[in-house]
Amino acid sequence: MEIFGDEERKEVMDVLETKALFRYGYDHIRKGMWKTAEFEAEVCKQIGAKHAHAVSSGTAAVTSIMAAAGIGHGDKVIVPPYTFVAPIEAVCLAGALPIFAEIDETLCLSPEGIEASITPNTKAVLLIHMCGAAANLEGILAVCNKHNLVLLEDCGQAMGASYKGKSVGLHGAAGAFSFDYFKITTCGEGGMTITNDEQIYKNIDQVADHGHTHEGDNRGMEDHHVMGANFRMGEMNAAIGLAQMRKLPWILEQNKKNKKYIKDRLKEVKGLTFRKLGDEAGDSATYLNFFVSSKAVAEKLFDQFAKDDVEGVANWYTNMYHFINQWDHIRGMKYPAKLAIHDLEAPQDYNNLNLPKSEDVISRLISIGIQCTWTEDELVEYTDKIIGSIRKVL
Ligand SMILES: Cc1ncc(COP(=O)(O)O)c(C=O)c1O
Repeated sequence: MEIFGDEERKEVMDVLETKALFRYGYDHIRKGMWKTAEFEAEVCKQIGAKHAHAVSSGTAAVTSIMAAAGIGHGDKVIVPPYTFVAPIEAVCLAGALPIFAEIDETLCLSPEGIEASITPNTKAVLLIHMCGAAANLEGILAVCNKHNLVLLEDCGQAMGASYKGKSVGLHGAAGAFSFDYFKITTCGEGGMTITNDEQIYKNIDQVADHGHTHEGDNRGMEDHHVMGANFRMGEMNAAIGLAQMRKLPWILEQNKKNKKYIKDRLKEVKGLTFRKLGDEAGDSATYLNFFVSSKAVAEKLFDQFAKDDVEGVANWYTNMYHFINQWDHIRGMKYPAKLAIHDLEAPQDYNNLNLPKSEDVISRLISIGIQCTWTEDELVEYTDKIIGSIRKVL
């Protein structure tokens, strides 16, 4: 949302002028404009996916890829304790049972953490590429292959990131992206699914639209092989998403340049270490993540940032609702209706989880949000300010 302009306005006006707000049908009024299909094609082109299907949110995208890959009632799914809550909710609402495993300094599930959490009925790993960069995919794929686990990638925070030349989302059965307002590119609310597997793509296409097969030109009378829901993206959202997606290469370039500048300067400060990146070149550079020596130091530093009016920093252990210590409702599996997990045997006691490595990593983590629109002066001034605060504490 940093760079909204004439491009977004033009795409939206196209849709308003035709009045074709729905992604399917209405061929006679739409003057050849299919914004959602164009958005999907742009995603495929930029990230090298065979198939992309747009949906109404990142949450809908995760829900759709899970169903499409056959993950549902009673299946155990390995998830991380550090993420936005959406994928955990998607697992529970699908009737699957989450198993929280350890993350490491990549900020994502670790191969060892996954392997140590496998039970006889574990079916899938829902890997979440946190803060703009990929997990240790090589190690994780080896564990998934060894134990015959389906790998699903939630790339909600990692559009534009890749691992050893291949976009996130294409390393397992399917990937999910979010375009909500806080992402590297946005369409207000929206999501995208990607896969190289044609059957999974067809399943997503149907699950996201009440089972419609989208074959033929009579929407009411199409075949319906499976049930689905309404996870459709509308043409207005797609119009914005399309304009934003075209800006992604520029945003990535700026982010990388700005992040490198701050990181190089922070390297001069003793007492910090950085997030481990399996493929630094593939980082979308939305965040610069670093660790200090203890939870107490992280808290002190975060307070200092607040005193010095340093904006755009996160201490995930206490402030961003992304770590399991802040999820009382999820640990309690609270929902207005009965879920599978209330009837089936939970694989873990969620209120007494033992995840010391994740606790340690997240309690010492500080993240700086990178902006693509900083001028050189702003970048220098911001970095000076950060370093000034850090020096007061370390
Ligand atoms: C990793 C991750 N997955 C899924 C989502 C959900 O996306 P949405 O807000 O579009 O439903 C988010 C949103 O923050 C996210 O960070």
